[in-house]
Amino acid sequence: MRLRADLLPHGAYSDVVLVVDVLRATTTAVTYLERGAEALLLTATPEVALAQRGEGIVLAGERGGWPIPGFDLGNSPAEAATQTFAGQSVVMNTTNGTAAAHIAAASGKHVLLAALTNAHAAARRARALATEEIAIVCAGTDGRVGLEDVYAAGVLAEYLLAMGDFTTDDGARIALTVRRSSGNPAEVLAGSGHGVYLGGIGLEEDVRYAAQVSVSTVVPVLDPAGEVGDVLR
Ligand code: MLT
Repeated sequence: MRLRADLLPHGAYSDVVLVVDVLRATTTAVTYLERGAEALLLTATPEVALAQRGEGIVLAGERGGWPIPGFDLGNSPAEAATQTFAGQSVVMNTTNGTAAAHIAAASGKHVLLAALTNAHAAARRARALATEEIAIVCAGTDGRVGLEDVYAAGVLAEYLLAMGDFTTDDGARIALTVRRSSGNPAEVLAGSGHGVYLGGIGLEEDVRYAAQVSVSTVVPVLDPAGEVGDVLR
């Protein structure tokens, strides 16, 4: 079994893909489902998201970390953790995370969302589904590698290496090296470029929330996408 890590989305996947956007889209997506959401719909644009408005629909997303005008929520996992979404579906559009999921969905056979908060459960689910390869795909930020995503890829890789025999590519080895040479996750996330940015706009609680490792067993799994976007449950 092959284990690879793309430090930015690559676009060609053959088997299981773990999409990682720790700050904050995949952390928030896990939280929505944990708080009772029936499904997530990840759209390619805010306009497509706004067109989904209706009974039982919550619109959530951000640009530059701030809520998109006209949406019900931004992209805060800490905020999501204080609400319940029973009977609702959440339509998400974010700067990087939903785009990375779309790229993965275009070719991946099984697409899962992973963060630090659900890392062990996501690794277990990926191992159970994979027949040839597990690709960890880091969303990054605005086209640049994100330390927090690479660190999380290293956490996922360590879990996976303990679950079976893998050959690892350079990306996976880089992620493992980052994981093994870093301090605690809270320090890594707070010191990352996007973590510093979020802290600077008053969202440090999200950074702290996203640093909790394997506290959730919820793993968003992509259903076959419709023309609107990628449905995860
Ligand atoms: C993203 O998807 O780009 C991130 O989640 C951005 C953010 O929410 O800060």
